[in-house]
Amino acid sequence: MKNSKIGCVILAAGKGTRMKSETPKVLFNICGQPMIGYLLETISKIKEISKVYIVVGYKAEEVKSKILEIVDSKLKDKIIFVYQEDQKGSGDALLKVKKHIDPSIAYLIVLSADVPLVSENTIKMLIMSHLKEKTDCSVLTTTLDNPVGYGRIVRDVSNRFVDIIEEVDANESQKKIKEVNTGIYIFTLPILWSALVKVKPNNKKKEYYLTDVVKFISSKSAISTLDSQEVKGINTRKDLLEVTELVRRKIIERFLLNGVNIYLPDTVYIDIHTKISEDTEIFSGCVICNSEIGRNCKIGPYSYLDNTKVADDTQILYSYIIDTQIGNNCKIGPFSRIINNTKIHNNVIIGNFVEITRSIINDYVKIRHHSYIGDTEIEEKVNVGAGSITCNYDGIKKNKTYIGKNTFVGSNVNLVAPIKVGKNVMIAAGSTVTKDIPDNAFVIARVKESIKPQHRIIKKLFNLNM
Ligand code: UD1
Ligand code: MG
Repeated sequence: MKNSKIGCVILAAGKGTRMKSETPKVLFNICGQPMIGYLLETISKIKEISKVYIVVGYKAEEVKSKILEIVDSKLKDKIIFVYQEDQKGSGDALLKVKKHIDPSIAYLIVLSADVPLVSENTIKMLIMSHLKEKTDCSVLTTTLDNPVGYGRIVRDVSNRFVDIIEEVDANESQKKIKEVNTGIYIFTLPILWSALVKVKPNNKKKEYYLTDVVKFISSKSAISTLDSQEVKGINTRKDLLEVTELVRRKIIERFLLNGVNIYLPDTVYIDIHTKISEDTEIFSGCVICNSEIGRNCKIGPYSYLDNTKVADDTQILYSYIIDTQIGNNCKIGPFSRIINNTKIHNNVIIGNFVEITRSIINDYVKIRHHSYIGDTEIEEKVNVGAGSITCNYDGIKKNKTYIGKNTFVGSNVNLVAPIKVGKNVMIAAGSTVTKDIPDNAFVIARVKESIKPQHRIIKKLFNLNM
């Protein structure tokens, strides 16, 4: 086989100590996707890459299974996991790949999993430049006004790239250098391996720095990208916030370009999995994850939607909705809570302080205020009065309620489940109903009212002389 293929390494073994968390850094969530997912998505678009070596170490199995869960099958076939038991530095991590490397690979791109937003074009530009220059090592650099935390690119008087000095090991004049290492490289094999074994942990951190490899490779170049945002590294939660903000803004811009209105966009968070159709308006303070919203809807202000599907022309105000499907032309909220595989059909009104869980609500149903509906199926055109609830829990298990078409449930009714209420039924306000009700029945189940005029207590209380 011709020895000219391009392989790719992703360094992802580090714990991410500066995040101060037990979660592996590369699994931190950025707008609905783990950090490493962005890099994997980009790599999957670069067809020239024939193998992807992912170095895992800290919580390796957790990282590995998450990666396998999110990648497509084409990329999965290219991935080889490499273990770095002790995290002795990025140089040590890369050296662990050596014994797994496919002999057909001539060039190795090295990416850091904590630099997630590098684009396909930038990686391709680095590959092309490396092949054109015919060097053995190309380092992607960028220039930052505030280079704190990054390795500095040292050039000689002729502006030739000489070395990379890590921040902790840099002297005062090196710290002033604004050109930094992005942590993205391409190397020619097998020169990389002979240079890498020469790297020693002679630095303040006592780590094997991958950056030191450039000391042992004479034919090298440092190639700069103008877009410093896409090569932002994430080491702290502040970095994570900045990168999340970049992604969040990109998502918002994409929706604006696709005909969705977003008001006060700095207060709106929409994740990468969410789809929204034209002419829908999203108002301030909304959080929308993993959801699909149809045309001409109004969502918000201040609504939380997760794993929810909304059809067209529906309005959702100040509400909390998870794992739910909502049809066309519904009015939800303000302050509704709808969860747990609830299905709401078309032209339904769900009002303030209504909670619905594991239920099916059919067309033209109205539940306008202060109700709890659990494990229930409600047929078309039912009206549920204020304060009515389904008593679905008997202390041991959840029981089902069924309410037939056209039925009118008065205010403050308790339906003690399991219970079946027929169609065209009327249940008087304040009733507690425990038995099934046949079609076309009127039900009243409350203590008989008694009015006693001029009662002695009243006389005494109000000192009435009647
Ligand atoms: C690294 C570079 C620095 C560059 C910066 C860009 C080194 C020595 N320094 O610094 O020049 O400016 O990235 O963001 O490489 N990793 C392992 N195993 C280890 C250690 C690290 O796999 O033993 C992985 C990490 O998971 C991470 C990557 O290597 O994805 C970089 O490590 P990190 O500790 O973040 O290095 P930086 O200090 O950011
Ligand atoms: Mg880093």
